[in-house]
Amino acid sequence: MATFTLPKNSTIQPGKTHKAEAGAKNVKAFKIYRWDPDSGENPRTDTYEIDLEKCGPMVLDALIKIKNEVDTTLTFRRSCREGICGSCSMNIDGLNTLACLKPIDDNVSGEVKIYPLPHLPVVKDLVPDLSQLYAQLRSVEPWLKSETPPPPDGERLQSKDERAKLDGLWECILCFCCSTACPSYWWNGDRYLGPAVLLQAYRWIADSRDEATGERLDNLQDPFRLYRCHTIMNCARTCPKGLNPAAAIGKIKQMMVERET
Ligand code: SF4
Ligand code: SF4
Ligand code: FES
Repeated sequence: MATFTLPKNSTIQPGKTHKAEAGAKNVKAFKIYRWDPDSGENPRTDTYEIDLEKCGPMVLDALIKIKNEVDTTLTFRRSCREGICGSCSMNIDGLNTLACLKPIDDNVSGEVKIYPLPHLPVVKDLVPDLSQLYAQLRSVEPWLKSETPPPPDGERLQSKDERAKLDGLWECILCFCCSTACPSYWWNGDRYLGPAVLLQAYRWIADSRDEATGERLDNLQDPFRLYRCHTIMNCARTCPKGLNPAAAIGKIKQMMVERET
């Protein structure tokens, strides 16, 4: 692939601090991980000073401002800007979270440190390679499986109680903040499915309309795919949607025990 070279008159200064414009009074610095696989260079961090008077309130607003006005080479994912698509997940000041839901802390001096989600290969800058996570998601077949045809009116109905069992599960936006905060996933991510994918697996196990519960449990009955969770709870602590994947994992384990007895 061709290497991108900055034009001679570029104001982009790799590895240096991009100063705020003269006269800016409320300045916050953002220190951001940079790596371009085509450059042949090692990763570095670049620092950008932003005038908070001219920036939206969230970390994603600052990233968009930097990309639009200072350094077009900065690369990150984003779409909805309101915590729905899950694409702007990254590590901000040591916590995996969504940049669009993370307010810029203007009370604290010092820089905001932004890195890609940890323990994943990096595609470029703040963009991690999610291929393994998506392959694991596919492996739990996250869709309704039923031999019974739908009723003539076309809808498979649930009672209120049956529907309530999906609360805390359907809200997952697959940002993978949890899986990349899970020490068990760091160490065994090639075989352990991790909290995000196991929460998705349980979302279908818990669905009263799904008829593949036994098959789904068989698919998880494995010392690595399910049983690497040691209830460390990093997943629940970091989830930007307030979900508890560890609880979903616990319920799958409980169902495994119940079907043996
Ligand atoms: S509770 Fe389980 S899934 Fe969650 S972080 Fe800990 S080991 Fe990982
Ligand atoms: S459980 Fe939470 S942190 Fe994990 S993928 Fe879903 S929304 Fe993201
Ligand atoms: S941009 Fe969609 S969740 Fe942040």
